[in-house]
Amino acid sequence: KKLPARKKYILSLDQGTTSSRAILFDKKANIKAVGQLEHEQIFPKAGWVEHDPLEIWSNVRKVVGHALSDAGINHHEIAAVGITNQRETAVVWDKNTGEPIYNAIVWQDTRTQKICNELGGKEGEGKYRDITGLHLATYFSGPKIKWILDNVEGAREKAEAGDLLFGNTDTWLVWNLTGGTDGGIHVTDVTNASRTMLMNIKTLQWDESIAADMGIPLSMLPEIHSSSEILGEGRQNGLLPGVPIAGILGDQQAATFGQACFEEGMVKNTYGTGNFMLMNTGQEPVISENGLLTTVAYKIGDNKPVYALEGSVAVSGSLIQWLRDNMRMINDAAESEKLATSVEDSGGCYVVPAFSGLFAPHWRSDARGVIVGLTRYINRAHIVRAALEATAWQTREVLDAMNADIDHAGVDVELTELRVDGGMTANEFLMQFQADILGVPVIRPKIIETTALGAAYAAGIAVGFWDGEQDVIDNWSEDKRWTPDMDTEEVERQYRNWKKAVSKTLDWVD
Ligand code: G3P
Repeated sequence: KKLPARKKYILSLDQGTTSSRAILFDKKANIKAVGQLEHEQIFPKAGWVEHDPLEIWSNVRKVVGHALSDAGINHHEIAAVGITNQRETAVVWDKNTGEPIYNAIVWQDTRTQKICNELGGKEGEGKYRDITGLHLATYFSGPKIKWILDNVEGAREKAEAGDLLFGNTDTWLVWNLTGGTDGGIHVTDVTNASRTMLMNIKTLQWDESIAADMGIPLSMLPEIHSSSEILGEGRQNGLLPGVPIAGILGDQQAATFGQACFEEGMVKNTYGTGNFMLMNTGQEPVISENGLLTTVAYKIGDNKPVYALEGSVAVSGSLIQWLRDNMRMINDAAESEKLATSVEDSGGCYVVPAFSGLFAPHWRSDARGVIVGLTRYINRAHIVRAALEATAWQTREVLDAMNADIDHAGVDVELTELRVDGGMTANEFLMQFQADILGVPVIRPKIIETTALGAAYAAGIAVGFWDGEQDVIDNWSEDKRWTPDMDTEEVERQYRNWKKAVSKTLDWVD
């Protein structure tokens, strides 16, 4: 069915770790308007990270208002809404009151380490890998839900009575957008569900026995849908009355889609709060032998799902924030580049930001961050440079794991380039260093808002605003490329030092 001509835009809601954004895209994927608000990062104890779900919902409403008024349009011109979100972060709320029973426990939070150890028992962190594609680690939603049910008074009884709902922030937003206590729908998509540690990666259904192990009633879990279909519409007396909510993709999967990584072996790397590299592995899930995760990349309507191998790095951009806010070494992110280039090298200093333990390819919840190689010579500029370099080294480790998995995945490709996006790709020093140590060109597209764009595409394809993947490919174009320019022996020498530094982070927490 043809869309009316007045439907000129897709509204993408990007609910990220540090902020929520509303972006309006036109057919050519040009940005018409952006609204953005940061929310509070709550750190109640070492290793704990929370968000207030009500603040997030209120910010989302505000940024939608900002984007619409900036663009000077009303909801009649919006063909559909697409949602993308920080994954894993767990919200549990009472469906009768609409009130969260606890703050959202954020993906970076490590409080569930004990729960994970207990769940793993003798089988350890590999226990659910074949079913879920994931390592039993504090990163994922399931153990976070268990923690809330175990620790919030009365929660378990309420859950068992069917009064509590769980969702990642996509689910939380859709429930509120479509009516909340007044008929809100309780849904998610396959990509988000694949990060809960509760979904069978092959059947794309909740796994009852894992939910039972974690003591999570199935009635709490949202219905799993594809990433691109009409799920519901904005509530009548709300912000977006009658506008179809037509797509959901976890943020890293959205970036993969927005980067047009549609062929097996295509890879993107996003430099956000953390770093997330995804490689399209086609229609069969591949279980990694080298510390990567198996995840759903996207599923368009009734089409078969497409899978990815993912290398998740917990801390990259958030290390620069930490230098700014906690260490007060820089005033803003841009200053990090100036300082880094004011010295010739890091002076032998390495920073390993294992703030949430180490994710891929190590999966060590017991790791904590280190700064090593300190001498009287080291100054602020060296440490800032080492912090930027840490992002590139972590990416190198993940790329090596991906290369090692490629054969085993039966994907007949060689990684010859890396498509990048995210805030830190504005840092020229980092991008050049990244190309140098990977030994492959690093390519940034013209539209770097690939996360928001990916979700817009998923929604736009569902309502016929775009025809399909070919539109995504046609709208993608290269903006800048950095080519490797460092002596290989020097790269390998520094890489050995990096690995030594990583070994110093282990066994820190008992
Ligand atoms: O898995 C966590 C990831 O989805 C968060 O992404 O962009 O909010 O750091 P970002």
